[in-house]
Amino acid sequence: MDQRVLVASNRGPVSYQFGADGSLTGSRGGGGMIAGVADGLAALEPGASVTWICAALSDADRAVARSQEKGLRDEGGIPVRMLDIAPGTFDRAYNNVANSALWFLLHQLFDTPVQPRFGREFRRDWESYLAYNEAFADALAQETLTRSTPTGEADPRVLIQDYHLCLAPRLLRDRLGEAARDAGIGHFCHTPWAPPDYYRMLPDGAGRALLDGILGADQAGFHAERWATAFMDCCAAVLGADVNRTRLDGPGPGPVGRVTYRGHLTEVVVHPLGVDASALQERARAGDVRAHIGALRRAAGDRKLIVRVDRTELSKNIVRGLEAYRELLATRPQWRGRVVHLVFAYPSRSAVPEYRAYTDRVRQLAFEITEQYGTADWDPLVLEVKDDYPRSLAAYALADVLLVNPIKDGMNLVAQEGAVLSERGCALVLSREAGAAATLADDALLVNPYDVTETAEALHRALTMPDAERRRRSAALAATAAADPPARWLGGQLASLGLES
Ligand code: F6P
Repeated sequence: MDQRVLVASNRGPVSYQFGADGSLTGSRGGGGMIAGVADGLAALEPGASVTWICAALSDADRAVARSQEKGLRDEGGIPVRMLDIAPGTFDRAYNNVANSALWFLLHQLFDTPVQPRFGREFRRDWESYLAYNEAFADALAQETLTRSTPTGEADPRVLIQDYHLCLAPRLLRDRLGEAARDAGIGHFCHTPWAPPDYYRMLPDGAGRALLDGILGADQAGFHAERWATAFMDCCAAVLGADVNRTRLDGPGPGPVGRVTYRGHLTEVVVHPLGVDASALQERARAGDVRAHIGALRRAAGDRKLIVRVDRTELSKNIVRGLEAYRELLATRPQWRGRVVHLVFAYPSRSAVPEYRAYTDRVRQLAFEITEQYGTADWDPLVLEVKDDYPRSLAAYALADVLLVNPIKDGMNLVAQEGAVLSERGCALVLSREAGAAATLADDALLVNPYDVTETAEALHRALTMPDAERRRRSAALAATAAADPPARWLGGQLASLGLES
């Protein structure tokens, strides 16, 4: 059976930069969603016909998008179609609606005495978000009607990703009309979803449109049951949709409900996303990672390592993580001189003012801890802000403790990658608000991410965990992370959309 798979996401699998001489070079787009989708697509049948539609994110991307008649491919050979959306429209849709309003809403990050303020600007930005989703729906409709594969024809399966594209499933269904019957449309949200009381902060029209948009899909996917449940609660409370729920025995994958609205049924599914353990381990054997392991080991000496690896992202809760480390050093002086906290906090969304302020706060706190506790021969904390993937993998290999304490997180790959790459076993201090807590709870030390004292105590417990227990827990975490590799995550969604393999 031939396979035709269309993916749509804001960020694509490849992005471009201009060199000093004006030449263009491509590199792989970052983030958990890209890794999951790209690795999942790589596992499809060799003859599968795939097209990945994404937005041009920069001037360099736009230059490529305009000259892409020849056909663009990512590093793995996946055909990519980049949409050259007008810069102002893109900026308002991505920065103002997706990153400022929706991200804050879905992760429940608003500082409610002053935020959000949905005024005239938001109405204008919302029009751009609609136009941006329409551009994707137009491209998807065109590609959906192109049914040909290298060896014949196939009904397309469409996988629309994330909160940037909530309106696109409905817009696509409207464009396809009768032809929508032959195309399975899925939407997958990689973020948490907010409960109705919080969700209702959005202006009513926008709140209804987002839910109605996703319900244009045949399938709505989430990483964890609690996000799927919150989504269904919003469908019932905000739209008055008919919701039929089922319960999962474990963390998934599986269906958790059916929502009927405007005569169309959407199945709600949970698909946790883990890691491709053998590919990750192979990557970690490469020379660049080994060199970083050597350097980090020399720098740390025989001190214990507490590691965190994150984008400098408000939801990642880096500030409270640093405060917990400071409290550990303050309340348990036995660790002074005997532990180093490696904080890899890579740049993110610097166009959003809250992120710039947050980055300053992280730097300031790291500076204060070093000033307060550092000695001539001991740096209690190393903050690295330059993104370096091989160095991150090296840190996972050496970590005694991995700190992953998000305020909210759809899934969280760091928690899983860390366990898979750990060389001597690593204790995981994990926020109970991460989607990954549903799969990793038994073997991690779960914390309330707002409770700095509890987090400091968990760090102490992790540092003092007996070797055998740490190794046993770490092996169990690694096995869980490897149980839902991208191929299974993506293949499972396609199978429930009726794609035969
Ligand atoms: O959490 C969902 C997600 O799509 C991640 O995969 C990604 O890291 C992030 O959101 C989007 O980040 P960006 O705005 O940099 O593309």
